[in-house]
Amino acid sequence: MAAPSANFVPYDDRDGWIWLDGKMVPWRDAKIHVLTHSLHYGSCVFEGERAYDGAVFRSNDHSKRLHKSAELVGYKCPVPVAELDKIKLEVMEKNGLADCYIRAFSWRGSEMMGVSAQQASIRTCVAVWHWGNYFADKNKGIRVTMSDWKRPSPETIPSAAKAAGLYMICTMSKHKAEAEGFSDALMLDYRGYVAELTGANVFLIRDGAIHTPTPDCFLNGLTRQTVIELAKARGFEVIERHITPEELSTFSECFITGSAAEVTPVAEMAGHHYKPGNITGALADDYSQLVRGKISLEQIRASAKVA
Ligand SMILES: Cc1ncc(COP(=O)(O)O)c(C=O)c1O
Repeated sequence: MAAPSANFVPYDDRDGWIWLDGKMVPWRDAKIHVLTHSLHYGSCVFEGERAYDGAVFRSNDHSKRLHKSAELVGYKCPVPVAELDKIKLEVMEKNGLADCYIRAFSWRGSEMMGVSAQQASIRTCVAVWHWGNYFADKNKGIRVTMSDWKRPSPETIPSAAKAAGLYMICTMSKHKAEAEGFSDALMLDYRGYVAELTGANVFLIRDGAIHTPTPDCFLNGLTRQTVIELAKARGFEVIERHITPEELSTFSECFITGSAAEVTPVAEMAGHHYKPGNITGALADDYSQLVRGKISLEQIRASAKVA
């Protein structure tokens, strides 16, 4: 096991407050038992969100997705969507954070420990913390290797859910990538098409057109959807389709999107080199202004018409 670095602040030993099953509890007291069903069987569902200047970007869509993920995994999140939206703001306020990362999650509790968990309680938590750039090398473009693992078929697992079990191979892929000096890994899907990174969607650019894999067996990220709208508002052609790994050498720019990663340029992926260029730069700028409410899609559309 890698030794924690000297400036490592463990997530279970911090100051602050966490909302757990209806109560705001001191950070260090937000504990669960080792015999928790979802810990053993992977059925925790979660959201990763960011707040900017005190407002959670697409909060309601994230809360709805948490509910959808729970449904896909076979249970109901007990906290209504509107309530979740309110709780996120309350936890931010209680912790004095206006710019932060938000983790809302639900899981099966400890009442049952076999594979069957019909009577297990469903628990919910919302935690927030400061999280700067997801990638240390975000601005100059990240280096990405190819994962050994593939995104599974939707007939194998509910692949549209943001569920813990789907991330086991992401952590394995990311660890291997980091051990080899890369920031992340590209995962192909079960058919061999380009799918996504371990925690972000991928976009590739060629001759001014933006290509992105069809999300038919992995998360159709909210950031992905926002960036597609931004790109269309700017008048760029966006093509959603199956992309083969052989095509990777034909693109000139590449970037990834995610609530944590935001819009991050890619300098290298699976041995191919890309130049973070004008389109990536424009969309990264638009995204950073949109999330802070400094620009709207309508304004981008209007300025694209004039230009
Ligand atoms: C595997 C995976 N794909 C894609 C995304 C991007 O999703 P979103 O933009 O909704 O954060 C994430 C991040 O949550 C992810 O973990």
